[in-house]
Amino acid sequence: MPAYEAAQWEAEDLDFSRLVLADVHDDENLFYLTSCASFIESGSDLYTRNLIDFFRGDAEVADWLRERWEPEELKHGRALRAYVRHVWPEFAWQPAFDAFLGEYATYCKVEMLAPTRALELAARCVVETGTATYYGALAQSTKEPLLHELAARIAADEVSHYKSFYRFFKRYRVQEAPGRARVFATVGRRTLELKSEDADCAIRHVVRSHMPARADDPAYLQQTSARMNATIRRNLRPGATLKMLMRPLELSPTLQAMVQWPIEQFMQRVFLR
Ligand SMILES: [Fe+2]
Ligand SMILES: [Fe+2]
Repeated sequence: MPAYEAAQWEAEDLDFSRLVLADVHDDENLFYLTSCASFIESGSDLYTRNLIDFFRGDAEVADWLRERWEPEELKHGRALRAYVRHVWPEFAWQPAFDAFLGEYATYCKVEMLAPTRALELAARCVVETGTATYYGALAQSTKEPLLHELAARIAADEVSHYKSFYRFFKRYRVQEAPGRARVFATVGRRTLELKSEDADCAIRHVVRSHMPARADDPAYLQQTSARMNATIRRNLRPGATLKMLMRPLELSPTLQAMVQWPIEQFMQRVFLR
């Protein structure tokens, strides 16, 4: 993981004098990776409201979500937006984002949360593992110094989010004793979902604004998403990701060794498609 401390930075601190425009401007794939991420991060307040409601009465979790998690996710959104606007000023970020948000809002309903708090926290661990993986891989994938730094800083924040969700999960796990099978099912379902709706929605809206002629071309959308996945796959560190994903299962070392291979296969399928 990156040599950056979590949370020790502000979106407004990005030093654009360090940007090497020639390393990134013509890279269509990096354009999609950063702009899609900027959309999803900038829409995170939709999720927070649902989550805070879900944890009503638990001040430790609700306060952390409100005071740390949401501001940090929105900070990621602002920093990525600033980067996209600086590098690709021809992309009309705001109207494209507004259109994205209109559709994205319909996904963020309370009923999409897991059935219990322990299971939702396990699912959050998966989501943060996914984002930490994404930004870690994005940082590795580029030699452009400012994007490398930005992605590495975001990755450090996402790892720290994972740690907090995991800490809360352990508390609820004692109360709820959800059983490994249910945790495993939730973790598996969210891992598959990681790929799907949010990213597809962001890609569709970025393409609609950036390449209107291709917006209704499923082959182009599919190709774009496959190229993005290939970049993440080439640069991810499956070992670290796997360890984070497995922790909420709290397996004994023997059991962990037994399931490591099947889970690795599962992850390959998820990230390789
Ligand atoms: Fe984030
Ligand atoms: Fe996060």
